[in-house]
Amino acid sequence: MTTNIAEIPVRKICCIGAGYVGGPTCSVLALNCPDIQVTVVDRNELRINQWNSENLPIYEPGLEEIVKQCRGKNLFFSTDMAPALKEADLIFISVNTPTKTFGLGKGRAADLKFVESCARLIAEVCDRSKIVVEKSTVPVRSAASIVNVLKANTKPGVSYQVLSNPEFLAEGTAVNDLKNPDRVLIGGEESEEGKKAISALSWVYRHWVSADKIIEMNTWSSELSKLAANAFLAQRISSINAISAVCEATGADVSEVAQAIGLDSRLGPKFLQASVGWGGSCFQKDILNLVYISESLNLTSVAAYWQQVIDMNEYQKSRFGERIVQSMFNTITDKRIAILGFAFKKNTGDTRESPAIHVAKHLLEEGAFLHIYDPKVEKAQILLDLDQLDEESGISIHTDPYEAAKGTHALVVCTEWDQFIVNTYDYQRMYDSMLKPAFVFDGRKILNHSALTKIGFHVETIGKRHGQSFQDHNWAGTNGI
Ligand code: UDX
Ligand code: ADP
Repeated sequence: MTTNIAEIPVRKICCIGAGYVGGPTCSVLALNCPDIQVTVVDRNELRINQWNSENLPIYEPGLEEIVKQCRGKNLFFSTDMAPALKEADLIFISVNTPTKTFGLGKGRAADLKFVESCARLIAEVCDRSKIVVEKSTVPVRSAASIVNVLKANTKPGVSYQVLSNPEFLAEGTAVNDLKNPDRVLIGGEESEEGKKAISALSWVYRHWVSADKIIEMNTWSSELSKLAANAFLAQRISSINAISAVCEATGADVSEVAQAIGLDSRLGPKFLQASVGWGGSCFQKDILNLVYISESLNLTSVAAYWQQVIDMNEYQKSRFGERIVQSMFNTITDKRIAILGFAFKKNTGDTRESPAIHVAKHLLEEGAFLHIYDPKVEKAQILLDLDQLDEESGISIHTDPYEAAKGTHALVVCTEWDQFIVNTYDYQRMYDSMLKPAFVFDGRKILNHSALTKIGFHVETIGKRHGQSFQDHNWAGTNGI
């Protein structure tokens, strides 16, 4: 007899994928649900060993404390996937869905091969009914593909309900976002069984999320909501970045414009920080996905509309790189440039789609020597991102910002780390150790520009006309250019 989903109490959860989504999500879940046993599995042994060690594989403020508190009690990390899947009442699929690099949809469509292999494994090893929850960000109608794979391979007497429960956490604030979500979406089938599965997952979240924030909807709406939310967020940054180009050309200041826009209660102040460009694993991938889906549905104007959000981001990254070269007398060949910040945003060691990569490659192509410092990104990761095997070929990676700045012509801020602000770093010390004229290019608008100008720096920033002109400065240094 087939087990009824309603009879499944959620006592054990298994999450496939111990990455940026699966790890923090399950840690916060375990913290809030002491009555549920949570096992996070991954085929990557190194990652699992790291989750079981003192050095977690990802950095997120507040995460280490939670893992230490729950690990070994109701939170487990393992590579032994089959038993964990077999035992679980509810399974999260939290594997990566990268953009396809070959074949149909290359460069745009999400590659669902990892999601599909999870569905196959679940069907192969499980011998009782389960709720399968799609947590990875996937194209609309992916749940239907999971259902198809499960159905085609299910053992007799076993049934599955597939839910969409997209994760909205942002890196760097993941723990807080998970503890206090703006909303939890649960999409499922409109059948009785579907509703019961939705209730079961809703019950899990009710341990710490109030009922009014848990929104039940149909599966496709839930899947599309995630793509749409990311597309809207990225669009907002691309919009203010587009305005920043107008500011630089006209003398308006993008910070003032952003403040004015944000005071309109219909628009609100968030996500209006003009920057060197947005990065991260989600925005680009999800918009490309939306573009691809729209094209596949023959909605070419919709596709072109969202594509423009990405194009504007590419333009912003390139513009910043070009501005560095132009400001430094149109040549940076053999000049030394310090890059402060390599992560795609502060409080994370993640560099996926980081604008710093684009800027660094641009500067390398122009012949500069780069001295890179980031408080959290590993040296090996930076070299990998820049397609380098070692520190030869014009790149040095530093563990000390002052060492990175020493002997350089310019500082380029690519990540908005709090420690980069003027009160934390001694910019006079950096200035004294640099060649003159010493430049600062603030790609995040976080520095105190008047304080830096007072020291003697030539400051350039996003969304503001070129700083005080070269001739206006009374250059303190004599090291030449
Ligand atoms: C994003 C979404 O915010 C999150 O809900 C979703 O689940 C995953 O994608 P994330 O990529 O971690 O999260 O970071 P986010 O804070 O959204 O920032 C993305 C990029 O935009 C970063 O490079 C950030 O520096 C940049 N950004 C953000 C700006 O340039 N200006 C802003 O005003 C805000
Ligand atoms: P995200 O940011 O979406 O969490 P990550 O790349 O950080 O993405 O994490 C995804 C994790 O999923 C990786 O640790 C990867 O090893 C794991 N993974 C991918 N496919 C499978 C699979 N078929 N079985 C088990 N783990 C998988």
